[in-house]
Amino acid sequence: MKAVIPAGGMGVRFLPATKAQPKEMLPIVDKPSLHYVVEEAIKADIRTIMIITGRGKKSIEDYFDKNIELEHYYKNPNNPDLKEIKSLLNSASFYYARQNEPLGLGHAILCAKDFVGNESFAVMLGDDIFLDECCIQTLKGLHEEKSTTFVAVEEVTPDRISQYGVIDAEEIDDGIYRVKDMVEKPTPEDAPSNLAMVGRYVFTPRIFSCLERINPGMNNEYQLTDAMKLLNDKEDVLAYKVKGRRLDIGSKIGWMKATIELALRREEFRDDLKEYLASIR
Ligand code: G1P
Repeated sequence: MKAVIPAGGMGVRFLPATKAQPKEMLPIVDKPSLHYVVEEAIKADIRTIMIITGRGKKSIEDYFDKNIELEHYYKNPNNPDLKEIKSLLNSASFYYARQNEPLGLGHAILCAKDFVGNESFAVMLGDDIFLDECCIQTLKGLHEEKSTTFVAVEEVTPDRISQYGVIDAEEIDDGIYRVKDMVEKPTPEDAPSNLAMVGRYVFTPRIFSCLERINPGMNNEYQLTDAMKLLNDKEDVLAYKVKGRRLDIGSKIGWMKATIELALRREEFRDDLKEYLASIR
């Protein structure tokens, strides 16, 4: 299975930090956020990865490539930090497509049509990081069983529901839902449920003909959710309620919390950071 990771957006929610660098390269602790998403793909044995980039995103390609100068001048092959990225590079092949205009998530995925071909594939959005559960692996397993499209969902509170695509669904098995309808970024009053789509999908290739048929929707962008609504007329779109913890790094506050939480999970930083946080007045 291949994965498509859209990274062509302008990162407006992170200005000014993203004025001259890709949001996907902003570090959480000591790795760019995109590194965590790629790690998840590899954990699920998804090793052919297309990243959809755009203007100003060249450092993404440099990151997932050898740095000959660094290797030449910095001759410590045992440096654990470099070992980690090296092993990531050896575990997957990276491909790139450029989204020449930021016309929305639906448009970004459509840029991967030729790369994906006639196979089911994973879509992984960079604003969500999953801990304790390899979310895309679970979706991949479910897709292998049922041969239909799966999306990950999570219960979110009404004050945050308008940041997500939200499903109307009936539970058909423990934590598995048949999607009846979906709405992109509804107001809390219009939300059909509290189940929000959280950035991990496994699609059948039928999604592409749906992406080709949609018109600009919410925010005048081509929305993946609108194409999924069309897909739902052709096959079952099923949802899986994630069991592990998710970090939403799509906002500045989410980013800060993720940085703290991921640092606290690292033994080398834990005690020092806890002590520091407790000392702040
Ligand atoms: C996108 C999708 C939305 C989904 C969200 C998950 O929105 O359009 O349906 O719920 O990702 O992170 P975005 O965050 O790109 O605005």
